[in-house]
Amino acid sequence: MEVLITISLLLTIFFVFKAKKYSNRLPPGSMGLPVIGQTPDFLKALKADKVEVWFHERISKYGPIWKVGLFGNPTIVLHGPSANKFIYSCGENMLTNTQPPSTSRILGKKSILELSCHDHKQIRAALVSFLKLDVLKQYVVKLDEEIQHHLQMKWHGRTEVKVQPMIKNLTFNIICSLLIGIERGSKREKLLPLFQDMNGGKLAIPINLPFTQFNRGITARKKLVPMFMDLIREKREALEDQKHQSNRSKDLMTSLISIRDDDSSTMMTDEDIIDNIVAVMVGGYDTTSVLVSFLIRLLATNKSIYSNIVQEQQEISEGKSLEEALTWEDLTKMKYTWRVASEMLRMYPPVPMNFRRAVQDIEYEGYIIPKGWQCLSHRWKHALPDSSTSKYTTSHKKHLAKLYLTIWNLSGRAIDRKIASFIEKLVGATIPHQRQHSNHIRRARMHSYNT
Ligand code: HEM
Repeated sequence: MEVLITISLLLTIFFVFKAKKYSNRLPPGSMGLPVIGQTPDFLKALKADKVEVWFHERISKYGPIWKVGLFGNPTIVLHGPSANKFIYSCGENMLTNTQPPSTSRILGKKSILELSCHDHKQIRAALVSFLKLDVLKQYVVKLDEEIQHHLQMKWHGRTEVKVQPMIKNLTFNIICSLLIGIERGSKREKLLPLFQDMNGGKLAIPINLPFTQFNRGITARKKLVPMFMDLIREKREALEDQKHQSNRSKDLMTSLISIRDDDSSTMMTDEDIIDNIVAVMVGGYDTTSVLVSFLIRLLATNKSIYSNIVQEQQEISEGKSLEEALTWEDLTKMKYTWRVASEMLRMYPPVPMNFRRAVQDIEYEGYIIPKGWQCLSHRWKHALPDSSTSKYTTSHKKHLAKLYLTIWNLSGRAIDRKIASFIEKLVGATIPHQRQHSNHIRRARMHSYNT
């Protein structure tokens, strides 16, 4: 513990010294207290769903580029489309994929979010192999079943539901099934509190004391790792037993275990697998559940969008018998539903910020981003053009798609666009597919719960 505080203090002194060197070239702003910086204030805003306000207060005071102390690191915050473009396109010789210390500790050093260059490419290729279209198609039935069960158990017969916790619960269940092959039962229930503590600790002040969120996250990870080691061992054994049944659909963990190098040796170590499964679990959890929650709020408050979506979904539903599961082809017909979801992504970006680390002194817009400093890019809705008159038209959809593609392609990250669209469409699809639930959705009251 003392070691961590000493290191943080030494780093702070080092950065203060470094900041002096550039004092007239650093952007305006206030670093706050050593180590802690302005993190408590920021986390408070995040919890109260006021992070946009927090950013905008500072933008009006300092402009689009400013400095602050966050998560134990001196940080330069950049706003706006050109800043985003810069961050995603400047190359790894300037900015690396380093996350704040709490995220690195909870997700693990081998997670894709921490890797650069060859290592990043290798892990990304491994993850993408799981997300190929023909593999994804196999999961539609599985997801449909998971969602039907969820609606039956948690929505059916209720006059009021708290949407966000429900959707988080559903997202977690889908993640368990698809990513690690843990089906409903005691294992899932044991995993849930650990996952929640890890997710809660991923953005925290990196002080490891018994009462801190960071500590809860680390403790949860320590308990989760042996669980995942056992799971990996079980899956390896199962793979050995089923060597000749290549057509079986695999969860992500099994798929990562199966990947071989050119010389047929195992490509990913257990540590690689665990860190990346955790990263994908965390990466898919808040993002998807935030999007779907906002989508349902929109359905509850906007009658016209609600009826258009119901109409589209009913047309799909009418072509099927009651027992028939959803198919990939059904998803491709949900064009209007997807346009609405795209607009939700624009209005409420589930990932409003990304972190990087400067590997050299970088000059940007007349300021210096010193080597070793954290760089935070803030993506807010005005980063995308306003479309008030044509929100759900095809041209707007194309425009949005182009914009998101640009972001993903610049960063070399195409995988989650596919999976996010996939899961979201499916959740959207199930709403009117389960006709008896549509009235509950109309009445659903959105409660703002933040992680
Ligand atoms: C609406 C849903 C989603 C949104 C808006 C979203 C957004 C993003 C963004 C902006 C990044 C880039 C982060 C950065 O550059 O620092 C990212 C990366 C990533 N996301 Fe998502 N995501 C979503 C859903 C998912 C899902 C469902 C999964 C997995 C099941 C996932 C897994 C990942 C992974 C593994 C990365 C790292 C990719 C890489 O480094 O190449 N995401 N996501």
